[in-house]
Amino acid sequence: MIALGCDHGGYTMMQEVKKHLESRGIEYKDYGCYSEESVDYPEYGKKVANAVVSGECDKGILICGTGIGISITANKVKGVRAALCHDCFSAAATREHNNANVLAMGARVIGVGLALQIVDTFLDTPFSNDERHIRRIAMIED
Ligand code: RB5
Repeated sequence: MIALGCDHGGYTMMQEVKKHLESRGIEYKDYGCYSEESVDYPEYGKKVANAVVSGECDKGILICGTGIGISITANKVKGVRAALCHDCFSAAATREHNNANVLAMGARVIGVGLALQIVDTFLDTPFSNDERHIRRIAMIED
């Protein structure tokens, strides 16, 4: 189960992400927002972050205008490792190395085509389980 959250800046792109997940048969919970009306991104960043750390959802996807504000917000929640990715290399590396559990993107930064490839890369790349990466991730939580 994937937790989805966006602000008004990410709303249109998130509708494309939802269609894409549906086409792949991937279940999601939509934590809003639900229109292009101006809202405050921290509300949605926190909802998705809490859904992931509570175990309600396995991973999260967040979209705002830049991806920055909403990823900063999510990373304030203990146990969240939100990665702001605008390329597939980073999306794969953050899964392999950081075991990132939330993907953040900026809808004003990249187009929908690339965003959907990044989503696929993030969801399909497993954590490496390498000892050094497990150790470093544990150090983040200290
Ligand atoms: C909203 O205008 C914008 O500030 C927001 O989407 C995001 O880019 C914040 O980091």
